[in-house]
This record gives sequence, structure tokens and C-alpha cells, in this order.
Amino acid sequence: MKITYGELLRKVCQFANVLRNHGVKKGDRISIYLPMILELVIAMLACARIGAIHSVVFAGFSADSLCERILDCGCSLLITADAFYRGDKLVNLKQIADEALQKSKDKGFPLKKCIVVKHLGREEVAADGACSQSPPLKRLCQDVQEKKTESSQRLHPKIPWDPRMDVWWQDLMSGASTECEPEWCDSEDELFILYTSGSTGKPKGVLHTVGGYMLYAATSFKYVFDYQPEDVYWCTADIGWITGHSYITYGPLANGATSVLFEGIPTYPDAGRMWSIIDKYKVTKFYTAPTAIRLLMKCGEEPVKKHSRKSLKVLGTVGEPINPEAWLWYYRVVGEERCPIVDTFWQTETGGHMLTPLPAATPMKPGSATFPFFGVVPAIMNESGEELEGEAEGYLVFKQPWPGIMRTLYGNHQQFETTYFKKFPGYYVTGDGCRRDKDGYYWITGRIDDMLNVSGHLLSTAEVESALLGHGAVSEAAVVSHPHPLKGECLYCFVTLKDGHDFTKNLADELKKQVREKIGPIATPDYIQYAPSLPKTRSGKITRRILRKIAQNDRDLGDISTLVNPGIINQLFNDRCDTKL
Ligand code: WTA
Repeated sequence: MKITYGELLRKVCQFANVLRNHGVKKGDRISIYLPMILELVIAMLACARIGAIHSVVFAGFSADSLCERILDCGCSLLITADAFYRGDKLVNLKQIADEALQKSKDKGFPLKKCIVVKHLGREEVAADGACSQSPPLKRLCQDVQEKKTESSQRLHPKIPWDPRMDVWWQDLMSGASTECEPEWCDSEDELFILYTSGSTGKPKGVLHTVGGYMLYAATSFKYVFDYQPEDVYWCTADIGWITGHSYITYGPLANGATSVLFEGIPTYPDAGRMWSIIDKYKVTKFYTAPTAIRLLMKCGEEPVKKHSRKSLKVLGTVGEPINPEAWLWYYRVVGEERCPIVDTFWQTETGGHMLTPLPAATPMKPGSATFPFFGVVPAIMNESGEELEGEAEGYLVFKQPWPGIMRTLYGNHQQFETTYFKKFPGYYVTGDGCRRDKDGYYWITGRIDDMLNVSGHLLSTAEVESALLGHGAVSEAAVVSHPHPLKGECLYCFVTLKDGHDFTKNLADELKKQVREKIGPIATPDYIQYAPSLPKTRSGKITRRILRKIAQNDRDLGDISTLVNPGIINQLFNDRCDTKL
């Protein structure tokens, strides 16, 4: 399926009119809960056209997470879809959305409208490969989820429907005009809110504005991928995360790029899917995440080599530190030692790339995000707030603002100041550790706050702990990050139980389910260990530093003299989960 820029404009105008007809005005918030389909891009741009603020919620999030985000931004309507396939798994999105709307109603915030894209129920459209025709038209190609061949194998879910509230996207669009006068906005007007995990456990609504964000997304896209008019660009991220906002929707479209939008997953129907799409659309610039690279690396070279990657010119990665082994595989096997790799370090909060090589211009070192992008001034600080010079390791901070920096946390400017600017006054604090080598290259060493990075997605340990505590059997919970060969990090949970409960495999499964339901499948714990009690300091703080060591079976514990109950440590070591539950 393909769409030209002209068609996209008309659809955006139509949907902008639909929103206006529903009374949406400049500054109103709109929640969007959609899979990777064209309507997601159309909905975002329609909001931007009329000055409404979009809040895209990743379609892998649970009803609770969606409800929390709806309440936090106080949106006036929700846009979702009937259902979709993730690989061969059916996700009944409307049902999850309905649960979220019910929860939000129960909490005193009833929404009046829910616009539903008929996606699974629409006439099936085949991916037509048209994007490989020449001369290339400027367009966005959507590679639709491969459909199972036998229609009898496909489930057709019953879509829950409330006619007072629900309305089909397609019905609204068919009557809407294709012309829509844009709302004039100031460069500092709000463009969108995107929630990211916060160390308090409550997601933070990162707010980006019209001028600075778009300028930064567009400029960094152009230079970091060395985008040229004949390029075909593909970013595999989900638009529910910042990478999709900046490098699927805003950056490429602002540059008039030809780009691929992919609804599927890398391993379905087989591990060659990415490479077959690269060949099919003759992709030249390809942007993915270390977790996907590690997953595909495990499947060996054969699925890669089966497909031509001759079109490729630049490879990118984002989301977490890439281990040199995965970097080298990406470089040698995927890029045939021909394509520079841009390892781009940045955050939801930064709007766009902060540390990154420029392809073919920056000599690369596998695993290093190399140097700052134009206008970015990094520094490394020690605990007492001194800037370190030369070879050094410490906190990564930025010394001056850049156009794409977030402007606030929605509804909580004070938390914005405390989280990012309080630790080292005058500096923006990333929350990441970093090392600078003797040649001045920057190497991200990972998060140094209570956050962990699972498959490139940030989660807060507090958020998972509060989900575990929501289970009636749990009295205390402590969650730490644990290395994982594919996901980078995974969750290792320690739980203390209330009297009268026994720790069984059943209970562990229930707890995992609880976390999935509260947060979403990405937060599913890999390990749950029973702890008769948790190591604590005299002031009652759980020492997660020690629990991390126990999870990793590392007996080099350092100073444990501040603990009130050092006796528990041995027992926790003996009861470690060595195998997955
Ligand atoms: C991590 C994703 C090392 C880092 C764009 C950061 C990285 C967090 C890299 C932000 C990279 C992202 N090398 N670490 N190239 N890119 N990170 O907000 O810990 O989802 O703080 O934004 O991901 O994650 P977020």
C-alpha cells in the first residue's frame, strides 16, 4: 500500500476537519492508541494542523496504562482501532481501549467520543511492492502485516460497540472536506505529549513544542542519515515511542522523504522479514534497535544472506548501548562492511539525536555514540558536581539548550525542574552514565537512576514494584535490572508475602500476569524470587544495590555495615532463581 504526499495532505485535512467537527480546538489533548498504520500518522498530523496536542500511547500498553495517560492529560477524545495482528497474535485493541475508558469513567473522567479505525475489518489490501517502481515518487509506503494465507485460520474478534460513544473513522472521513485551513501556531505552542517512565513510578508527560522540536527532528534526520532525495528510508521503531515520533513522522516527512512504515515484527513470518523488506523497497537508510539486532543475530547469517542488501547505504541504531559484538555483526553481515553505522544516543526528553556519528564523516568505534550533534555541548560530571576533563567517567549532562529540548512535564513544571536540573544546577541531567576515552569519544554506560532499559524501552523499577504490590499476596517488592542476552536488561523481582500466603509457581505466574496487565507485556518479569525479608538500611530503605548483586550471583557486596538485617543476604543468595520460572 502506498500514499503520496498529496494524498497524505488531503487525508490529514479531512481528519483535521473531523476533529474540528467534534469541537476539538487548539490546545485540546487527543489520545491516540493505534498500531503502526497510516491512520496513526494522519491522526498525529491532523492534530498538529489544528493546534491540538496529541498524546500517542503505544498499542502494547495495557488498559491501566492507557487510562493513567488519559487522566493525566485530560484528553477530549480517544482514537483507536478495532484490532490488529502482532505477528500471529491477535490484539483486540478496542476491547482494551474500552476497559481503559471504563476505568477512566469510574475515576470521574468520562470521555464522550471514541473514534475507531476499521483496520482488521477493512477490505484486505495487499502490500503491492509499488514503491520499488521508478522514478520514485515521494511517498510513505506502508508494509502491511503479512496476512495468514488461510482465512479460516484468522480470528475475527467481536468488536465491543457503544453507539452513543463509538464512531468509525471511515464513516467520518467519507463526508469530510479535503481542505482545512491550518491553525496558526506560535513556535512555542505545544505540539505533543509523550509519556516516558519516571523514577517515581508515575509516567512523566514529556511536552514538546512546534518550532524547536520540528526543526531539530528535521535537521538531525537530514544530517545523521545523510538523507538524499533518491533515498528510501526505513525506521523499524513503533510510533508509540519517541523514535517513531521524530524519525518516522516528523523528521522524514519534514524532509519530503520516501519512507517505509512497517506494521509487522522482525521475526514473522520468519527471521528474514526485515531483509526481505529492505530488498523489496530497495531501502537505503535503515534505522533499528540493538535488541532487534541481537535477536536476529541469534538466528544466524542465513536469513540475512538470503536477501539482497545491496541498496543499503547507512545503518542506524538507537535505544540502548549496543554491545560491540552486535555492532560488528550489523556492520559485517547486514552492511557487508560497506555501510557506516550511526549509533544515536538521545532520549524522549531531547526530541532528537544528541550524540551520534555523521555517516562516513566520523571515524567509528563499535559501541560508542562518538561525538555531539551540532549545537550540543556535553559534559561529564562527578558526584560533587565538578566537570571532568579528558578521559573520565561519570554523569552525562548537557551544558546548553538545543532546539528540541522538552519544555516541561505536562502539568508538573516543578517535577521537570527537579528531575532534570536540580542535581547539577545549570546543567541538563540525562540520568545516564558515560565514559569519555582518550580520543574524546563518548561511551554510554547505562542508566544510573532507578530505571532499566528492556529491549530499548525505559521502565522504572518503582512502577513495576507498585504493580506487584497491587497483588493481594505481596507485602513488599523490590525490582532490579538484570543483564539479558537479547533484551539488554530484564526484570528480576524480589517479593515478600503477607502472612497466610505461600510462594508457588502459580503465584509467580499470577504476579507476572499482574505486571503485564498493569503496565503491558514489555514489563513482564523474567524472574520472581521469594524473599522472607529484604535487606534494608537503618532508615528503612531497601538496598537495591545489594539485590542487584544477588540477582547476578556476585558476592562482591562492598560495604554492608549499614544494613539492619545482613543475615538475610546468604539466604537470598541460596534461593536465587537460576532458571527462568
Ligand atoms: C538509552 C529513546 C546508549 C539511554 C530514543 C537513554 C541509549 C534512554 C542510546 C532514552 C544509545 C538511547 N546508546 N543508550 N545509542 N539511545 N539510549 O526516552 O539510557 O525511550 O537515556 O528514548 O535510552 O530512552 P527513550
